[in-house]
Formats: sequence, structure tokens, C-alpha cells
Amino acid sequence: MNQVIDCLCSRRSVRSYSSRQVNLDDLQAVLRAGTFAATAHGRQDPWIVAVQNPDIIRRLVAMNAAVMGTTDNPYYGAPTIILVFASDPSVWPNSLYDGALVLGNMMNAAHSLGLASCWINREREMFATDEGRDLMRQFGLPDGLIGIGALSIGYADGEPKAPKERKAGYSRVIA
Ligand SMILES: Cc1cc2nc3c(=O)[nH]c(=O)nc-3n(C[C@H](O)[C@H](O)[C@H](O)COP(=O)(O)O)c2cc1C
Repeated sequence: MNQVIDCLCSRRSVRSYSSRQVNLDDLQAVLRAGTFAATAHGRQDPWIVAVQNPDIIRRLVAMNAAVMGTTDNPYYGAPTIILVFASDPSVWPNSLYDGALVLGNMMNAAHSLGLASCWINREREMFATDEGRDLMRQFGLPDGLIGIGALSIGYADGEPKAPKERKAGYSRVIA
């Protein structure tokens, strides 16, 4: 099979990470792949923030866990968290689609480099709080953005689960 298609089909969500940090070259390659995702009208609406700072990661873990109502680590202990922000949909109706494609590109790019990842939710609620808005200012982001989602990124600790069977009729060709 074509290598790109093989990469797209073999990526899996990883929920257990070793403490080994992602090197900067690989991280930059993943971020760059995110910036080349298609965006509606070519507006490049999303903003990407990769966090490796342990203090900020601890804050993100606590904020996400508070939304989820858990004491577990919602980012599964990954040493890098990549956050994606975009315009409020009332300002730019395509912002969620744009941000989701950025996240998808980065997951697949990470996999192609031998990195593990998992999409993590709840950033919308996390960054709608005062603490979230403070962090966004600290990141140097413009005002008025919402959190779209995040990726845990690192090296897998163990083998991810095999994928579920694809549902019958998932795709079809009408000739
Ligand atoms: C929009 C979206 C939100 C997700 N949120 C989470 C999440 O918060 N935590 C998590 O562990 N996985 C999350 N996932 C990962 C899915 O659970 C995962 O993609 C799915 O189980 C299929 O597994 P696979 O990625 O290995 O194919 C999310 C995926 C998507 C696309």
C-alpha cells in the first residue's frame, strides 16, 4: 500500500506514555504539518500552542480534570500537549472544522515520525474560564478565541489496542 495511506490507516489513539520527551525537530515537523491543513477560505484561522513546560502541563491537567470531574490525568501523562484554538464560531462559522483538520494533520504527522498521540477534548470549557483566558494571554494569543481540542504527544508505553472493525457500509461508491 502507499506509505501515506498506510500511515493514515495504522494510526491509533495512545493512552499510555513514557516520560521520554519529544525532540524539538520532530515537534516542529508535527506543528508544520498542522499549519498546512486545509482551512476554509484559506483563512488559517486556527492557532497552535505546543506545551512542554511541566508547570503549565500540570495546570492543563488540573483544568481538564476539573471539567471532566475526575482526578485522573486526562492527557495520560504525555510529556507534550498541543493545544488548538480558533475563532468563536459566531465570528467564523468554519472554526471547528478548521481546527479539527489541524488536529488530524498533526496526529497523522506524529504517527509518521513514530510518535504516539491522542486527541483530548474539553479545551472549549477549559479556556472559557478566567484561568484559561489568563493562560491564552500568557501564550500570546489574540482575544476572542475558543479552545478546539488538544493532542497528547509522546512515545507509547506499550502497544495500542488494535482498531475496531470498520462498520458495514461506512463508505460507498455511487457510480
Ligand atoms: C473529537 C474527538 C474527541 C476525542 N476526545 C477524546 C478524549 O477526550 N479522550 C480520549 O482518550 N480520546 C479521545 N478521542 C479519541 C477517540 O476516542 C479515538 O479516536 C477513538 O476511540 C478511535 O480510536 P483510534 O483513534 O485509535 O482509531 C477523541 C477523538 C475525537 C475525534
